[in-house]
Amino acid sequence: MEVYLDNAATTKPRKEVVEAMLRSLEKEYGNPSSLHRKGVEVEREIKRVRRILARALGCTEQEIIFTSGGTEANNLAIRGIIDAYKRVGNHIITSTIEHKSVLNIFGLLEKQGFDATYLEVDKKGLICIEQLKDAVNDDTVLVTLMHVNNEIGSIQPIAEAGRVIKNINNRTLFHVDGIQSFGKIRFGLKDMEIDSFSISGHKIHGPKGVGALYIKKGVRINPLLIGGSQERNIRSGTENVPGIYGLGEAVRLTMEEQDKNIEYLNELRNYAINAFKSEISGIHVISEDSDEFAPHIINIAFPGIKSEIMLHSLEQDGIYVSSGSACSSKEKEYSHVLRALNIGGDLIDSSIRFSLSYTNTKEEIDYTVEKTREHFISLKSIIGR
Ligand SMILES: Cc1ncc(COP(=O)(O)O)c(C=O)c1O
Repeated sequence: MEVYLDNAATTKPRKEVVEAMLRSLEKEYGNPSSLHRKGVEVEREIKRVRRILARALGCTEQEIIFTSGGTEANNLAIRGIIDAYKRVGNHIITSTIEHKSVLNIFGLLEKQGFDATYLEVDKKGLICIEQLKDAVNDDTVLVTLMHVNNEIGSIQPIAEAGRVIKNINNRTLFHVDGIQSFGKIRFGLKDMEIDSFSISGHKIHGPKGVGALYIKKGVRINPLLIGGSQERNIRSGTENVPGIYGLGEAVRLTMEEQDKNIEYLNELRNYAINAFKSEISGIHVISEDSDEFAPHIINIAFPGIKSEIMLHSLEQDGIYVSSGSACSSKEKEYSHVLRALNIGGDLIDSSIRFSLSYTNTKEEIDYTVEKTREHFISLKSIIGR
């Protein structure tokens, strides 16, 4: 049996996504900037995808910029805003549990002389609104927060954060990394006072290397790439047309099936947590069963067993999981997210992320729990000898 439970790292592209991409590669291969029919048909299709994204996010088509994925969308928003609004101030705010595509830019900006505040999180991975209130000041140019954390699934209070930020300083811009929230929890962009929001195709059964950035009308973002003026001059470069076709299908189907799939994910997640807890003693569920966590991420510590050993043991049984964030799991260091939770080295060292998709089944969960239990018992007995 093969069980893929690493859906927060990436998802399998849907059949419709692959078909749309093939259509682009085989038939509709024109350059959307070309003036002839071959270009115009592609330009029309890109417009159609932009409309799908705008409808999904509840914004206008002009507020969507296609990018090469989540990392570029975060980079474009943060660096583009800082560059365009230099005069507003020198202070920037984020949290300690952001994705590296945010944290590493903050490191660079600090070297360039920006003053950065890193909001701490509690044991559930949630920021404290009071700390945010204390942090925002007249000099704050940008706050950037993730909507859902990719390692533990905690959902930040984005709507409240937006209100607080704009109340204190309405010149401060607010970027949100929505890469793990889009399609996994319900929200309305316009209900939150945010200026930019990033999504990524491969987290929603779309293609890798394509994503989008919502930029609120009126917000200025300086480009990272200079060239042929595509994407309203904000993101030059010939469009990743097959990727955009695939993204369109992924977003369309995600929205069409959102209610059903979110409900199913919630049910599957509760089923999995109950099964792990009742079948395996001595484990610690880091992402608890509550409204504060997205339904597709379950993080469990197996004290005493290093996560890499458990990961490879499960792999032998055809079960694919992650030991923390896939983007940083090759770095031989503790996850910065788990460290920020202050939960102790043994839990951090032994944590496994099981991340779900609507394609997973209860049978797959039963098989995973059974194999995890076997490995946990046998590995502990070897270590205990
Ligand atoms: C929260 C979060 N932000 C950003 C990214 C980067 O997205 P991409 O892989 O599309 O560059 C990821 C992907 O792991 C993520 O989970």
